[in-house]
Amino acid sequence: MVNKLNNTQPSIIKLVDVTFGYNEKPILKEVNLELNEGEKVGLVGPNGSGKTTLLYIIMGLIKPQKGKIEILGKLREKEKDFIEVRQKIGLLFQDSDSQLFCPTVKEDIAFGPLNLGKSREEVKILVEEICEFLGIKHLINRPIYKLSGGEKKLVALATVMAMQPVCYLLDEPSTGLDEETKEKVISFLKNQAHTYLVVSHDKKFLKEVTEKIYFLKEGKVFLYQDFSQQG
Ligand SMILES: Nc1ncnc2c1ncn2[C@@H]1O[C@H](COP(=O)(O)OP(=O)(O)O)[C@@H](O)[C@H]1O
Ligand SMILES: [Mg+2]
Repeated sequence: MVNKLNNTQPSIIKLVDVTFGYNEKPILKEVNLELNEGEKVGLVGPNGSGKTTLLYIIMGLIKPQKGKIEILGKLREKEKDFIEVRQKIGLLFQDSDSQLFCPTVKEDIAFGPLNLGKSREEVKILVEEICEFLGIKHLINRPIYKLSGGEKKLVALATVMAMQPVCYLLDEPSTGLDEETKEKVISFLKNQAHTYLVVSHDKKFLKEVTEKIYFLKEGKVFLYQDFSQQG
């Protein structure tokens, strides 16, 4: 189903009145957030404000106590509703160790597309193309435990790219990256990613890759900056 309201693009993510707390302390209070196809959006907020939690809710990794989650135009409630979400929406975890679980780089990047039913040949080419693009071809056979933090971040991004998601959720993607590597991520976002929500504290990075920034504070999401509306 395609949502068309006021000539906007199809809705990818829509949260309506989402409320969540890990215990009695509320983290998200009736949060409303919408991301349409082609939107490149940032999310900022103090440490512990619930940015990672919000991304987990979109992926169905945790369930809100109240509210509605619509992804790709469909209401998502039960665990089985999120199977398609996790195939089509790619989450880059804040902590790369949560993302990587195979013995080597090559196996980790291949895991997702093989699981989607792509052939070994097809996946081999895809893995090589992604590694070439991110400049990590030299790491392809390396065990994960022998990677630096920045290298892990790039490999984690490669595993998400390999799923060819329709939308990316990126949780602090530039943390721990040197300037040159950060430029690669910026180039990827600008040129190859069509729709995304990126959480970051890096204002310069956000200004480069987003056209709109939301702010999460005290459980509420506000529009913070809209570059697309500026001269
Ligand atoms: N599994 C958990 N159990 C209890 N509290 C948690 C858990 N995960 C995160 N929190 C708390 O929820 C709040 C929001 O966390 P998080 O979403 O990680 O914030 P952010 O990503 O904005 O820094 C923080 O106070 C954090 O300590
Ligand atoms: Mg976080």
